Amino acid sequence: MDVTILKDSDAVAAAGTDLLRGVLRQKPNAVLGLATGRTPLAMYQRLIAVCCDEGFSFRDVTTFNLDEYIGLSPDDPQSYRAYMKRELFDHIDIDQGNTFLPECATETDPLDVGPAYEALIRSRGGIDLQVLGIGHNGHIGFNEPTSSLKSRTRIKTLTRETISANKQYFKDPAAQPQLAVTMGIATIMDARRIMLLATGKEKAEAVRQTIEGPVSAMCPASILQMHEAVSVLLDEAAASALTLRDYYDWIAEQKLRIAGNTEGR
Ligand code: F6R
Repeated sequence: MDVTILKDSDAVAAAGTDLLRGVLRQKPNAVLGLATGRTPLAMYQRLIAVCCDEGFSFRDVTTFNLDEYIGLSPDDPQSYRAYMKRELFDHIDIDQGNTFLPECATETDPLDVGPAYEALIRSRGGIDLQVLGIGHNGHIGFNEPTSSLKSRTRIKTLTRETISANKQYFKDPAAQPQLAVTMGIATIMDARRIMLLATGKEKAEAVRQTIEGPVSAMCPASILQMHEAVSVLLDEAAASALTLRDYYDWIAEQKLRIAGNTEGR
C-alpha cells in the first residue's frame, strides 16, 4: 500500500484530484468507480473547478458507483443518484447516460440487480480507478464487517452503526433505508487501481486496522492489503493511530529524494 499522510482534508482532496487527473490524462475514456458520503465531497468540488480547462474532460468517462439504497427513487434527494448529480455529474461534461449506480427500480427484483451490475462493469472493460471512503467500522461500499472477502454486488443489510452514522441526512428517521445494493469486496478488488481517502479522527482506528491490522472480514477494508495498486490518502487526524508513522514519513522522504534525483532526466 502506498500511504500518504497530508496535513489536512484539503490537501487530501488536492492529492486525490491529482491522482484522478493523472489517470484521465493517460486514459481519457477511463472507467471510474465512485463513492458518496462526506469524504469525497471536497475532491468533487475540485474536479468541478478544473473540469474542462487544459483539455481535462469527463466527456468519454464511464462511472460506476459503489452503492445505492433500496427503496429510494432516483429523484429522492437522499438517493445516491441524486447525491452524484448534485455534487458532481450536473457540473461536469460527463454523459450521464454513462453513469451507473446499482439502482433497484420498483419493478426490478433486487436479487437481479447485483449480477446485472457485475455484467455491466465487465461489458465496459472493468474499473480503472476505484475511489473509496471508509466507514468507522472499516466498511468499504456497504460491505459491513463479516462481509465475505469474495463477495460480489448484492443486497446488504446495513449495521445499526452505519444507519446511525448516516441518520443526519434523513429528516424522517422512518424514511431511512436499512438495505442497500453494494459492489462486493471482490468487485472492488477487481479494479486496476484503488484510491482510499480518509479524513478525521473518527476514522483513525479503522485506518489503523486497514493498513496495519490483520486481513480480516471484521475490517473489510483490510483486504486492500492484498491489492497491488492501492493509494491511501490520509489527513493527520485519520493517520493518528498508525503505529509505523515514522516509517511512512521515511518512505515519503525517500520518494522526494528519488523524484529530485530523476527530475530533468
Ligand atoms: C459511500 C460508501 C461508504 C462511505 C463510508 C464513509 O458510497 O460506499 O462506504 O464511503 O461510509 O462515509 P463518509 O465519507 O460519509 O464518512
